Order: sequence, then structure tokens, then C-alpha cells
Amino acid sequence: MSENQFIKPISTEKKDNLTIGGCDLVELAKEYGTPLYVIDEATLRGICKSYKQAFKEYENIKMMYACKALCTSAIIRILDEEDFGFDTVSAGEIYTVYKSGVDMQKVLFNGNNKSAQEIQLALEYGVGRFSVDNFHEAELLNNIAAAKGVTAEILLRITPGIECHTHDYIKTGQTDSKFGFDLTQLDSIINLIKTSYKNLNLRGLHAHIGSQIFETQCYYDEVEILVKEIARIKKEYGISLDEMNIGGGLGVKYTESDTPPSVSVLSDAVTNAMNKYAIDIPTIYIEPGRSIISTAGVTLYTVGSTKQVPNGRKYVAVDGGMADNPRPSMYQAQYTAEVANKPGCENTEKVTIAGRFCESGDILIENVDLPKLEAGDIICFYNTGAYNYSMSSNYNRVEKPAMVLVNNSQSDIIVYRETLDNLIANDNIPDRLRRK
Ligand SMILES: Cc1ncc(COP(=O)(O)O)c(C=O)c1O
Repeated sequence: MSENQFIKPISTEKKDNLTIGGCDLVELAKEYGTPLYVIDEATLRGICKSYKQAFKEYENIKMMYACKALCTSAIIRILDEEDFGFDTVSAGEIYTVYKSGVDMQKVLFNGNNKSAQEIQLALEYGVGRFSVDNFHEAELLNNIAAAKGVTAEILLRITPGIECHTHDYIKTGQTDSKFGFDLTQLDSIINLIKTSYKNLNLRGLHAHIGSQIFETQCYYDEVEILVKEIARIKKEYGISLDEMNIGGGLGVKYTESDTPPSVSVLSDAVTNAMNKYAIDIPTIYIEPGRSIISTAGVTLYTVGSTKQVPNGRKYVAVDGGMADNPRPSMYQAQYTAEVANKPGCENTEKVTIAGRFCESGDILIENVDLPKLEAGDIICFYNTGAYNYSMSSNYNRVEKPAMVLVNNSQSDIIVYRETLDNLIANDNIPDRLRRK
């Protein structure tokens, strides 16, 4: 089993209250307020080690954490200590990684529409690799690199034409996708690089087939396509591509019915494809996000109002919702919750947990069995480490929650709760509207 196959952080315990990392969740809620994101350092470091263990046979393996899942300075520090590099997709992510003291050679810049300013910044900070997504970007990157008198080390992102059964919005490897070069466009871009783009150095290929993937076959298919293309490019162009990035996408267990494969599935896929095509083993990049950070994170909410619809369901409202976790309203994501201050109590009620935001669709969990809930109870949502804070918003002009890191009975703040002044910090009142 690897950590992505658990619903709860590995340090979760039931005492008088639920505890994680040796910290009482009710006490954390009191000390830091709610909603509160809590990250369990032991689970995070544990999954990093599981990834390293799964790929231990490969000398040239580069683990890249996909920052889009959760990007804060302390999280970056931990992953840096665990020898991960970083997959970034914006100036903001690059800047956070840079300011966290990371060797920028360990950074890869991904994305389907990188701006000239972002490319400039990435070159200035010495980002190690660019995953070039399309023809426009190849020309833009070449021109900016030429003007600076440098060479950009690149991978080409391809769409391998693989359908994996995950939600449509998080599926990226199928042919009709906004990301990457279609396989039929690969020869054109290679010819352009050979003949015209002298400031691009082609190092390898990159693919990413989607997110929250449970099927193992699509990884085998993906790696096979990458390896086959690398072998073909060597034969037809004499170009030895010594790098292969297989992306991220491994699923996690949000509910009991989820059955994500363990991380060794990825290494098995690589090994099998290598054996089949007998190419020189390239440096292999993998760039997981969700499976690294999701299980390590939980969110604590305080129960407020309840509404019993006559002859209908019971709504229990909490003090957060779609602004701190947009996934349920965006793609009907399912979560598992427990009441942190009632860990031993029997489930006696079926309730719908509603958020506090002004949208009827702001529902966090429908029809969940829980102990009888009262105002002031603390509800713990599991598996919220990925794509919660990183997708959060200030909808309804509500401050974003704080985040704490827990380990060995110690809690440390890693993101401060926003203040009301933070909310208006970037506002400007034009002179003609100013009051004397
Ligand atoms: C190119 C790329 N790599 C890696 C990831 C990380 O995926 P996941 O969080 O599912 O592991 C994504 C997510 O969308 C991505 O687009």
C-alpha cells in the first residue's frame, strides 16, 4: 500500500477527539480558527519515500512535484528536502519555488500558453527545462532565448491520444485536447527545431494523460507511445532523446469506493515499455501533484446553522465551502468527513453538508451519515491537500483560511489566514470618487 491508497493521513488517531500528527483537531480549530487547512508532514514525507522506493531501480529518475496541487513556501521546502524537483505552470509558481531557495535547474516550466513575460522570468531564474506545448511557444521561446544569448533546454509535450476514464475536465491526453502537439505534428516541430530554432535544445518528450487516474492500462499505453516515438526519432532523425516525462495523474482515495493503484504501477509501466522497445534508458521524469499532497491534507470546519426541509432533507451549514474547496461544485467531487469532537459516536443522521457561500450549488457532501450535529461541532474533511487551497477564491469577499503543518504533536502555521485588510489591499478608488 502507498499513502495515496488511504483516505486519512497516516497519523490520524481517534482519542477523545480526532488527532492528526499528534495534534487534537478541536484544539487546532480553537487556536487557529476555522475553516482551517491542516497538512500532516508524516503522510507527505511518507508518499515521497514511496515514490522514491517504487523507482529505486532507475538511476536517472527525476521526481517533480506538480506545484499546481498546492504551492506554498513551506510545502516546497519539504519537497526540496525530499529531493523532488518542481513542475511549474506560472510566474507565481516559479517565483514561490525560487524564493524557497530551490536549485532552479530542478524546475520544469509547463503550460499551454506561457506569456513572453513568464518565459523571460523563467530564463532569468535559470529554470532547468521548458516543456514546449505548441508551435507558437516554440517560436516565442526561441526568439526570447536568442535575444538573451542563451539556449533553452526543452521537452516537447505530446498528446498521446489516450482516453482514460476520469472526469472530462481533468482528462488531457486524448487527441482533442488543448495541451501539447498531436503526434502527427511531431515531425514538423522537430524539423523546425533542427533547421530554424537554434536556441532550443531538444532533450526529450513529455506527456500527461489526466488526473485522478485509477486505470493502470492507460499508463502502459502512454509510456509505450513515448518510448516508441523516442525510438522512431532516433531512427529517422539521428536525434537521441535522453529524457522522457510521463506526467502525473495517479488517483487518490476520496471515498471508500475509490480504488487508486499504488505508485509502483507507474514504475511497472516504465519497465515494461522499456523492455519491449529496448531503447537506451532515458532520464525519466514523473510529475505527480494530487497523489503527493492530497491525503496529507484535511480541512476543519465549524458547524453553524441547520435547516430541516419539511418532508425533505436536513442541511447542516459549515463556515466554509466552495471558495476554499471548489471541487464538489466544479466537478461533483466526493469527500469523506468525520466529526472531530465525536469520534466515538454512532452515526444517527443523514445530512447534507452545505457551504456558506451564496450559490445553491455550494454543497460539500450530499446525504452523509454522521452523528447528531450541533452548532459548534468541528467537521474534518479528509483528502483536501490537493486542488483546494490552490483553487480557492475570495468569492463573497471572504478571507482565505489559514494552513498549519502538524508533526510530532507540534503545529506550525504555514499560511496565515487572510484579513479583511488583505481583501481590500489591491483596491483603488479613483480621485474623482474620493471623499474629502
Ligand atoms: C502537465 C501536468 N503534469 C502534472 C499534473 C499533476 O497531475 P496530478 O495532480 O493529477 O498528479 C498536471 C495536472 O493537471 C499536469 O497538467
